[in-house]
Amino acid sequence: MPKALVVYDSKTGNTEKMARAIGDGIKEAGLDAEVKSVDNTGLDDLIAADAIVLGSPTRFCTMSDKMKALIDKSIEIYPDKLRNKIGAAFTSSGSIDGGNETTLLSLIQAMLMHRMVIVGHQSGSFGAVSIEAPDEKCIAGCRQFGKRIASLVKR
Ligand SMILES: Cc1cc2nc3c(=O)[nH]c(=O)nc-3n(C[C@H](O)[C@H](O)[C@H](O)COP(=O)(O)O)c2cc1C
Repeated sequence: MPKALVVYDSKTGNTEKMARAIGDGIKEAGLDAEVKSVDNTGLDDLIAADAIVLGSPTRFCTMSDKMKALIDKSIEIYPDKLRNKIGAAFTSSGSIDGGNETTLLSLIQAMLMHRMVIVGHQSGSFGAVSIEAPDEKCIAGCRQFGKRIASLVKR
């Protein structure tokens, strides 16, 4: 069965809650999903997944240092090992205009460099976004995002 990996960094738990909801949506759509902290994620985990969903808190309008460290390490498997895998991104930010879109783009840009195929959010945005802790509506949107990612992996 195809497998999705949801990798998150999260200091105060907001991005982690989004990661778990996206993982639930992927599973509801009938795919295997593993939700992992960036602290425990290695390059072999990325290689083993058919879809990779990266989530980071917004830090000065971009991804966190830990997520960037994983991406920088991925130069060791660049450019072939992640080619044509499905990719998607999510973030939690402190404010609506605090750079969440640029954070999503920073994650998406890295995945595009790996020749991955990027899935946007069903709302038309670049990925899933929460302002601080995700509320019920955001959690439902994350679950839908997971289902959308799974449906594209199955194609
Ligand atoms: C070092 C640092 C930088 C941050 N930079 C931004 C920022 O540029 N824009 C923003 O909206 N929020 C910023 N925040 C707020 C976090 O993105 C926000 O609290 C988020 O919900 C934290 O997610 P987490 O609970 O997964 O760690 C920053 C927080 C920290 C600690």
